[in-house]
Amino acid sequence: MRGKIRTILVTGAAGFIGSEFIRQKVKDKGVKIIAVDKLTYAGDIKRFAEVKSKFKFYRADIANRSQLEGIFKTHRPSTIIHFAAETHVDRSIHDVRPFIDTNISGTQNLIDLVRKYETDKMIHISTDEVYGDSTTGWFKETNPIRANNPYSATKAAAEHLIRAAIRTYQFPAIIIRPSNNYGYWQYPEKLIPVVILKALNNEFVPVYGKGKQIREWLHVSDCARAVDTILKKGQLGETYNVGTYFEQTNIKTVEMILKKMNKPKSLIKFVPDRPGHDFRYSVDCTKLEKLGWKAKVDFNTGLDHTVDWFLSNLPWVEQKRKLLQLFWKKVYKT
Ligand SMILES: NC(=O)c1ccc[n+]([C@@H]2O[C@H](COP(=O)([O-])OP(=O)(O)OC[C@H]3O[C@@H](n4cnc5c(N)ncnc54)[C@H](O)[C@@H]3O)[C@@H](O)[C@H]2O)c1
Repeated sequence: MRGKIRTILVTGAAGFIGSEFIRQKVKDKGVKIIAVDKLTYAGDIKRFAEVKSKFKFYRADIANRSQLEGIFKTHRPSTIIHFAAETHVDRSIHDVRPFIDTNISGTQNLIDLVRKYETDKMIHISTDEVYGDSTTGWFKETNPIRANNPYSATKAAAEHLIRAAIRTYQFPAIIIRPSNNYGYWQYPEKLIPVVILKALNNEFVPVYGKGKQIREWLHVSDCARAVDTILKKGQLGETYNVGTYFEQTNIKTVEMILKKMNKPKSLIKFVPDRPGHDFRYSVDCTKLEKLGWKAKVDFNTGLDHTVDWFLSNLPWVEQKRKLLQLFWKKVYKT
């Protein structure tokens, strides 16, 4: 039986983007939110502490089918918003196993349970990285997917499972491919918070290769709004890119941050490039814009707010810095 109340189950709810989606969605009086997260090193309930009384949270692993099924049985969600994933490319290069477990097996568990419990809709958050890279033009949703790193390969595999289910079982899903997100609460293992954190401590700021890679930046609040727009107006069976058309080289982004923090460029240290590093991602968002969504936050303003946020939340940043140092020590013996 399909759920009668609009109950939304959000996976990866304690992550960077999932928690922003929750913070926005709790304002919607028409929905009940069930949040699920394994709380890996990347998950943190502090991200949604200010709104935690407004939804039910389960610490659960989507790769654990029986744990997940218990939540489906209890709540019979009518919609799934699936953010949960292992997300850090460097870790996937070091060890892809957790990525296979969560991103592929976990997604298949959701597909199975959505079918079994006749959930109305599953919104699957994928990534622009599934396209691989391109030096020219903007990827359209119809472009082939050609993932180049272990992380994006697992995201592409998950998409293929969803796509196959759509075709085989008329599975009620929509796929979303956002570009690079940035903003408050981002785990400092991605470019922008890494630079802020390193510069804050007057440490060398590592930049891969010569920093010539190009990324398209999307503020996390715009990304979460895009997910909500697609949830409300997107067509089942379709895929939507999310981006801003604002792209620039990583070195330019690093220099902008250092300038905002009054730190010298001499902190920049070029390090050997990431193996297989994608040169440029860029997506065409015409299809999403036709649903009425447009990015609101321009990069310069968004970056100002992000730097300010990190500087105003030093205890959280320090806690993550310690976690990261442990990881770097283990992996890179630094
Ligand atoms: N951050 C970006 O720039 C970006 C861009 C495009 C797409 N995406 C996609 O958006 C989604 C969210 O990304 P994010 O940046 O918020 O990632 P994140 O790493 O900040 O959060 C991921 C969350 O998933 C949880 N999780 C991991 N494994 C789990 C499991 N087995 N069961 C339950 N929960 C689990 C983690 O604890 C964490 O809270 C991901 O699917 C990612 O691939 C991210």
